[in-house]
Amino acid sequence: MTQDELKQLVGQAAADYVNGNVPEGSIIGVGTGSTANCFIDAIAKTRACYRGAVSSSLATTVRLESHGFKVFDLNDIETLLIYVDGADEINVCGAMIKGGGGALTREKIVASVADMFVCIADASKRVEVMGTFPLPVEVLPMARTAIGRKLTALGGVPIVRVNKDGAPFITDNGNEIIDVKGLSITDPRALEAQINAWPGVVTVGLFAARGANLCLLGTEKGVERIEYAQHA
Ligand code: A5P
Repeated sequence: MTQDELKQLVGQAAADYVNGNVPEGSIIGVGTGSTANCFIDAIAKTRACYRGAVSSSLATTVRLESHGFKVFDLNDIETLLIYVDGADEINVCGAMIKGGGGALTREKIVASVADMFVCIADASKRVEVMGTFPLPVEVLPMARTAIGRKLTALGGVPIVRVNKDGAPFITDNGNEIIDVKGLSITDPRALEAQINAWPGVVTVGLFAARGANLCLLGTEKGVERIEYAQHA
């Protein structure tokens, strides 16, 4: 199977999981990226069963609305049973690197509110030690260089994310992203706390303090279901 076919497989598996476990009339938290898009397209078939969704990015909002979903402001929601999203890497404990699509801050906010985080990923995303995928860090533009120096001191190689035209990539929140290459992340929780504490950092794309509860992993043999003891 191609990577795209595996993404469609887990997108459908997540829709089946939501349809089987989330009560009708609920609001669903929805992530960002190509795998999350497969989930949106799959859950659209049962859209009428749900009140709507909370979105983690402007792109996801557009896609949800194109399928007729009502998109709620997170401020108007008291509880969220489930959040479904992809990942760039996921380790054996359910900690993830996220933010390849630049939506890490809103993803982390929505995930923090949800009772359950369901990660959907193709098998290439499962790793023993995270860090091969560059770690995204969303920063206030004025802190870009100062944060870059700190990331270098950690042993990483910070690279400011740019668009095809060479201009800085700007997030939905008006900030920039530094992608950090060369890290071997053996203690994701500690590194998440350390980088988050630096003035000017908006969000680090490590999702360890609030990792996944369940991963639906697309493999050649089908969808592997991996549950994690959550540690928040
Ligand atoms: C978006 O900012 C990311 O966190 C995505 O969830 C992550 O990059 C996975 O994206 P794909 O599903 O496109 O691989």
